[in-house]
Amino acid sequence: MTKELGIALLGLGNVGAGVVKLLEDNAAAITARLGARPVVRAIAVATAGKKKRLVEVDPALLSTDLASTVARADVDIVCELIGGEQEARVAVLQAIAAGKHVVTANKALLATHGEEIFAAAEARGVDVYYEAAVCGGIPVIRVLREGLASDRVEWFYGIVNGTSNYILSEMAAHGRAFADVLKEAQQLGYAEADPTLDVSGGDAAHKLAILAMLCFGTTVDAAAIPKDGIDALDPIDFRYAAQFGFVIKPIVLGRDHGGRIELRVHPAMIPDHWMLADVPGAKNALYVHSYALGPSMYYGAGAGMMPTAMSVVSDVIEIARNIAANAGGDRVQRHRSLERKPALPVADVRSRYYLRFSVEDRPGVLGRLTTVLGEHQVSIRQVVQDVPDAGAGESGPVSVVVLTHEAREGDVRAAIDVIAKSVVAPTRVIRVMGPP
Ligand SMILES: NC(=O)c1ccc[n+]([C@@H]2O[C@H](COP(=O)([O-])OP(=O)(O)OC[C@H]3O[C@@H](n4cnc5c(N)ncnc54)[C@H](OP(=O)(O)O)[C@@H]3O)[C@@H](O)[C@H]2O)c1
Repeated sequence: MTKELGIALLGLGNVGAGVVKLLEDNAAAITARLGARPVVRAIAVATAGKKKRLVEVDPALLSTDLASTVARADVDIVCELIGGEQEARVAVLQAIAAGKHVVTANKALLATHGEEIFAAAEARGVDVYYEAAVCGGIPVIRVLREGLASDRVEWFYGIVNGTSNYILSEMAAHGRAFADVLKEAQQLGYAEADPTLDVSGGDAAHKLAILAMLCFGTTVDAAAIPKDGIDALDPIDFRYAAQFGFVIKPIVLGRDHGGRIELRVHPAMIPDHWMLADVPGAKNALYVHSYALGPSMYYGAGAGMMPTAMSVVSDVIEIARNIAANAGGDRVQRHRSLERKPALPVADVRSRYYLRFSVEDRPGVLGRLTTVLGEHQVSIRQVVQDVPDAGAGESGPVSVVVLTHEAREGDVRAAIDVIAKSVVAPTRVIRVMGPP
């Protein structure tokens, strides 16, 4: 008789419903790979009597009691799919204490409480898997943990927030304003009712913290990662980007500078011929440069019901294999070797920059800008002085756009502070990636 593997789902929203559907639709293949039949024994939800759900389940499975759901004797694996931080943290720690293996899709939880959760899991001898927490359906965690296990990641960058990428793609394609596209994205269900975490870079910073842990063996304070949101971008920046042969994308970047770790989240101008420039709408992609393999790139659906559920169920299968083999996954090797490595101060980051100054159209202004930049060791690659800003009239302010050579961020910021007295609006700063 086929053995059974007891599963508790915390959450029956987009991802939870996808898990139920995938376990049904792929039942035969999953059972064959597991060597056991996965059986959902209990599902915790916030509102038991909810009329409309994405999948139909036996109402007897539903409960609003997280604590008793995770502690059930007939459950081997708890899948945390409720999101948020505090309730998820408590439920996951209770599951671990009860000796359950855990799968979670929750990047906010791991970025904020990962150290505590991994330590508890290690002490209790259970696994915590989290493939869906970064890049949804793209198996980047597995690639970094297993595919590149013998390699050493030197740097990576990518697009890990589909909502921001969708918004910037629309702004670039149609010259639309940020607020306008965001409103539409909310109506279409691509953006949350409260989009703050997505557009501020907070969600991307959570994912970056997890990637940094895997790539560089460091724990990270996600809240301390320097980040710029996409909400300050203006259609005019997209026109200049196209003029210079760039595309603006929401980027996360990680680099190991011999033990000092550079991490940042911001929109960046990237060359329009890069593969990353073609990543459309809500898709995600990660470019990794490692010592032995060199460059490799991973692309696909960064969110969505079935892609995300696929990652969750694949984690369930991996844990089941560990149980069958009486092995502890990779938890011991990974979490014992983690340490807190120092962050590269943001002032020491080196990049090229796009600087857009709004200035009065009078003689000497351009000379003053270039002089101040030069005094701060910021050397100029290209300058474009344009017609008066839209709606400003003939005598209104003009945009002066400067593309710099590689410069130190601290020097660029110091120059902008000095120039602040000479401009009529805050200077727009966008980092530029790609070959010099
Ligand atoms: N959606 C994606 O594409 C995606 C991609 C990658 C990762 N994730 C992550 O996956 C997780 C789930 O996302 P989702 O999109 O499925 O969220 P969702 O659609 O909002 O669903 C959340 C589910 O959790 C339940 N829930 C919330 N608080 C609860 C509580 N205190 N006790 C019991 N149940 C509770 C809700 O119950 P009710 O149904 O009764 O309200 C709902 O079923 C999040 O961590 C998210 O970041 C999502």
